[in-house]
Amino acid sequence: MSIINKAAAIGGGVIGAGWVARLLLNGIDVSIFDPDPEASRKVSEVMKGARRAYKQMVPGGLPKEGRLTFAKTIAEAVADADFIQESVPERLDLKHKVLAEIDAHAPANAIVGSSTSGIKPTDMQVAMKKHPERLVVGHPFNPVYLLPLVEIVGGDQTFPEAIEVAKEIYASIGMKPVVIRKEIEAFVGDRLLEAAWREALWLIKDGICTVEELDDIMRYGFGLRWAQMGMFQVYRVAGGEAGMRHFMAQFGPCLKWPWTKLMDVPEFNDELVELIATQSDDQAHGLSIRELEKIRDDNLVAIMDALSKQNKGRGWGAGALHKDYTKQLAKLAAKKPTASKAAEKAKATKPVKKAAKPAKGDKAKKSKKG
Ligand SMILES: NC(=O)c1ccc[n+]([C@@H]2O[C@H](COP(=O)([O-])OP(=O)(O)OC[C@H]3O[C@@H](n4cnc5c(N)ncnc54)[C@H](O)[C@@H]3O)[C@@H](O)[C@H]2O)c1
Repeated sequence: MSIINKAAAIGGGVIGAGWVARLLLNGIDVSIFDPDPEASRKVSEVMKGARRAYKQMVPGGLPKEGRLTFAKTIAEAVADADFIQESVPERLDLKHKVLAEIDAHAPANAIVGSSTSGIKPTDMQVAMKKHPERLVVGHPFNPVYLLPLVEIVGGDQTFPEAIEVAKEIYASIGMKPVVIRKEIEAFVGDRLLEAAWREALWLIKDGICTVEELDDIMRYGFGLRWAQMGMFQVYRVAGGEAGMRHFMAQFGPCLKWPWTKLMDVPEFNDELVELIATQSDDQAHGLSIRELEKIRDDNLVAIMDALSKQNKGRGWGAGALHKDYTKQLAKLAAKKPTASKAAEKAKATKPVKKAAKPAKGDKAKKSKKG
């Protein structure tokens, strides 16, 4: 069950709204700040989609949803939160401004996660004058309410304890936290995606295939393999009985062949945008983004559900986690009538259940992340 009493979401766009949905559907109250006058409508659209997906995951009934409040300022949103997730646009100057404000007004023991896709936490936490040691990158994948992965990255000033607490927090809302061992730009997921994205842009630009054909090559082929075993285990099996060593002996030399354009970046201009966007419009066959989101969500739930039945019923990979998560939600839903009262009482009488040790400590005694 979740260890978060009250969460704050700063930024309620594609990713922020996804966090809000995951938190609310876990019964956690969320206070959100987003200056966009359309934010409330956009968040409620995402909530509709998320509820729909969760109803498929937990057909017996969902937990009582947390309460969502729209704050007028960052200070108001974070005032009594013990977990804050920042999801504002990917600009360092804006991240600095927003994180400085969060840090100035959040309780000292609150953990601050940033959704950034690639900015190093070391470069962001310099703006936090009070407690930079409680900042972690908590990089999710869209849709946040369904995809379990969250990459956790600490910066130079992040305390190891903050990483541990962040791991617990994300796991408590059904996620799979993976701590990235060394801080690099774009972390692991986006580093891989960026490489594939660059190659894909080249392939379209050079007229080798269309956007739709490239997607077919993924979704009818290796995309299916990746969802269940990842890259290395799939290649291990592809090596036959001799496994990975044979696979590497066979395909190692290709690394030197002209199989990749990776080091060259296609010129990013209007012509390229037009080429890709026009082909993408054709591929959608008139389906709106919201319609595509529904199809995507149904497919993701079906894939995770199918994986949850594998491995003699124990579940495999994301399916094993999905099995536990849906059980956790069903248990929370079963507690519905008494849980809210108990939670209210606990909130009124107890301090924050899981305090982030680091922020309470003496700054002079801070240790570096390991
Ligand atoms: N879109 C993705 O697939 C994806 C995936 C993982 C991580 N991320 C990261 O998540 C973050 C947000 O990306 P997004 O795709 O949700 O962007 P988005 O443009 O959809 O949403 C950003 C939101 O932040 C709001 N905002 C702007 N200034 C703000 C401020 N000062 N305070 C509070 N809110 C403010 C905007 O009004 C908007 O609603 C970025 O750091 C991005 O790199 C994005």
